[in-house]
Parts: sequence; structure tokens; C-alpha cells
Amino acid sequence: MRQRTALKDFRSVLDFEPSDVKRCLDLARWLKDERRHGGTASTATALGGRHVALLFDKPSLRTHSTFQIATHELGGQVLDVPAEVALGSREPLADVARNLSRWVDVIVIRTFAQAIVEGFAAAAPDLHVINALTDQEHPCQALADFLTLQERWGQLGGRTLAFVGDGNNVAASLAHAGAMLGVHVRLACPDDHQLSDRVVREAEAVARGGATIRRFRDPHDAVRGADAVYTDVWTSMGQEEEAAERRQAFAAYQVNEALMAAAAPRAVFMHCLPAHRGEEVSAEVLDSAASVVFEQADNRLHTGKALLLMLAAPMTLTYQPAFS
Ligand code: CP
Ligand code: NVA
Repeated sequence: MRQRTALKDFRSVLDFEPSDVKRCLDLARWLKDERRHGGTASTATALGGRHVALLFDKPSLRTHSTFQIATHELGGQVLDVPAEVALGSREPLADVARNLSRWVDVIVIRTFAQAIVEGFAAAAPDLHVINALTDQEHPCQALADFLTLQERWGQLGGRTLAFVGDGNNVAASLAHAGAMLGVHVRLACPDDHQLSDRVVREAEAVARGGATIRRFRDPHDAVRGADAVYTDVWTSMGQEEEAAERRQAFAAYQVNEALMAAAAPRAVFMHCLPAHRGEEVSAEVLDSAASVVFEQADNRLHTGKALLLMLAAPMTLTYQPAFS
């Protein structure tokens, strides 16, 4: 199997080969265990004092916190870049990227348009760009989600994940990563909020192990027999003006105990968080024994560290996980 050492960016799950995604999960599992050594962990100085810039143009708890902690635990330094100076009209985006590339090795960007993340990556050949969520994709989340499922199930290949709700950024990255990992991804969304044809085609093009991507309108059809049921907010950041309309459009798409009963007997419930109890998920399901939402949040840290190492410090890795 081809092994690449020069991964530049993680703008999308599609920047990675399926083998890179598997390697990232393997590495994250190892880093999670290695963390018990604290400051004496073998990766504690892997970034050698180099800087990781965090540029967040939307709110964040999990993504910002975990990249900050990940950078510190790998011996790097965090630079917080205010969005109003980097993405405003003060200077062209390409100039911002070229400035930053003189000082930092990695930039983690959360913003609206995917084109901004692409613009940074294109303007600065020496800068590693990580997509921390755009309107189109949330690739870092998908890594943590499949790590969580791998820990639960052992093998991912052949399992079924049903996503219920808005065919949004989180859904797109789950489809990309699930396809690469051999997971069947089903999506139940209202007609006007389906995952796009483009994302379905992209996922099908990278699918391994016979993985399928199927779209449904009826949540019960999608969830029937599924091993995991996933939902996300109905109104994503930037869509606040549509909130009332969306509450109506998605009213039949709440993940509750009746819907979970249609899934496989030991199915897990997933949510990237933040969640709204009583909207996209009932409190009973979110707080149930089937819910793995805080394991997902935990794994944001370990997959974030794995990503930073794979992009910015691949040569420091003495650990060589076995490819599955
Ligand atoms: N799941 C997630 O990305 O959380 P934050 O928006 O808090 O970063
Ligand atoms: N779809 C949500 C995910 C938040 C982590 C949003 O974009 O707001």
C-alpha cells in the first residue's frame, strides 16, 4: 500500500486517501493511550516549539479547545488570529496567508465559505491548512466520530450509520469518511435539505469495501437496523434567520426513543454537539446509555493531535501503526 509522508492540508476528508484516514485513526488511538505519560509522552516535543494559528470566524467550544490543548501537548505554541483582521477587508486573504506562513506551520480555520480555506491553502505552499468547519464540511469531526465507532465496534467495515436531519457540513464529512472506511452511510433528510448530489458522487468515488451512500426521506427507513444513529442541529451557524422555518421543516426528524427503537438492538446515538434537547434529539436519547456524544468530544483531542502530527511533524513519529 502506498504511504505518503507529505500531506499538506486537511481542507476536506477528500485530501486524504483512505489509508491516511485509517492511519489517522490508528495514530489517534495510540496518542490517546500515550497521553497517560503526560509531559514525558514520546510526542511531548514533537512540534518543537513551532506555532499553530487558530483562526475562528464562528463560535467553538470543542474544536478550539482541543486544537489548543493538542498543540500544547505536542510541544507547540498557539497563535490566536482575530478573524476581523484576517478575513475582513483590511488586506487580501492571500496576503494574510503569506504573512502567516512566515511565522506559523499550521493554520486551523473555522469560517463560512469553503473557498476561504481553499484560498489559504493555495496562497501559501508552506502552510498546512486544517478545516475546522465550513458551511460545506467538518472533516475533523468525522475523524473523531469514526474513532469513537472503531473503539466501540473494533472493525468499521460493513457497519451502517444513519444520519437523520439536515444534509449539512457534518453529514458531508461523515459520508466522505464513512465511504473510505467501508461504512454504509444512510441519510434521512427533508427534500430541500438532502445531502447534495456532488457529495454523494464524491463519497461514492472514494468508497472502499463495498460501502454505499443512500438517501432517504423517511427517518424510519434510514434508521431500520442501523448500528449508529447520528443527528446534528437543524440550524447551523450562519443560518439563524431560518431557524423558525427549519424547526417546521425538520419536525418529523427528531431522534427520540421511538426512532432509536427501529435501529439495531445495541445501536449507539451520536451528535457532534452542541445539541438542543427537545429539537433534533430528545433529552432521553441524548442522555441515554446508548449515547456516545462525550466520547466523540473526547476523541476530538486525540484525532486533532494525530492530524497535527501527520501534517506538520510526520518525521517525529517513531510509532508506525499497522495499516488495516
Ligand atoms: N462539534 C464541534 O465542532 O463543536 P464546536 O462547535 O464547539 O467546536
Ligand atoms: N452543523 C453545525 C455543526 C456545529 C459543530 C454548524 O455548522 O453549526
